[in-house]
Amino acid sequence: MRARADSAVSEQANRRWWDSDADDYHRSHGEFLGVDTPSGEFIWCPEGLHEGDVHLLGDIVGKRILEIGCGSAPCSRWLAANGAYPVGLDLSHGMLQRGRTAMADGQRAPLIQATAEHLPFADESFDLACSAFGAVPFVADSAAVMAEVARVLKPGGRWAFSVNHPMRWAFPDDPGPTGLTVAIPYFDRSPYIEADDDGTVTYVEHHRTMGDRIREIRAAGLILDELIEPEWPEGFEREWGQWSPLRGQYFPGTAIFVCTKPE
Ligand SMILES: C[S@@+](CC[C@H](N)C(=O)[O-])C[C@H]1O[C@@H](n2cnc3c(N)ncnc32)[C@H](O)[C@@H]1O
Repeated sequence: MRARADSAVSEQANRRWWDSDADDYHRSHGEFLGVDTPSGEFIWCPEGLHEGDVHLLGDIVGKRILEIGCGSAPCSRWLAANGAYPVGLDLSHGMLQRGRTAMADGQRAPLIQATAEHLPFADESFDLACSAFGAVPFVADSAAVMAEVARVLKPGGRWAFSVNHPMRWAFPDDPGPTGLTVAIPYFDRSPYIEADDDGTVTYVEHHRTMGDRIREIRAAGLILDELIEPEWPEGFEREWGQWSPLRGQYFPGTAIFVCTKPE
């Protein structure tokens, strides 16, 4: 359903959701994300873009990197294994705990439980920041996330984040033919909400149009360097929720924004 959900409601619902969903999420996606490999992996999106191939963060060696909405932190562990100093931040204790388990026998990274809307770090304390579908689609105030990232980045620092492609909002979340027909106005920003029988909100996802995302980046004083719309790879058969080879033939599922804080 569509209804209002402010920052507090979104945060409380999503913390509980990801705490209780952590096991299922990892049963379904843990292998694809490389969660239990000794050095983690850095996969940007269901289309399978790997940071080791696309280098959206540029040179990472020796860099302090903040990962926002890190979940079980396979990306942070991959960054650490490749010479960076990452810090993973996530709202959900359950997701972070899954990361701690994965780190027991492999690469480690510090993990912090906090919301992306209020980053508990000093100004200009990171060289780079990244997020693979973490936090940005789930917060009520994504403009605040952009402003917080701009604050904690050093001048010249880069911020790359992946989210659901804004145009997907207009289609039902269905990997099959039903997911090819527009059903919801693209311009309707009211969040998608799930609630239990007594009306307690249990899950929230927020929508921004492409223009909104660009405006929020610019309002934070960041420069948008690149906008990547990954194409569905030929022969790639893996479905992930609403992402499927069928839909991938017709329109993008992911948008990756690469931004810089001016010197
Ligand atoms: C789709 S998962 C992605 C996790 C990880 N980046 C990955 O690729 O597996 C989304 C993550 O965003 C986190 N999240 C949701 N709202 C958040 C918020 N307000 N602040 C920080 N993290 C949040 C969730 O707890 C969850 O771990």
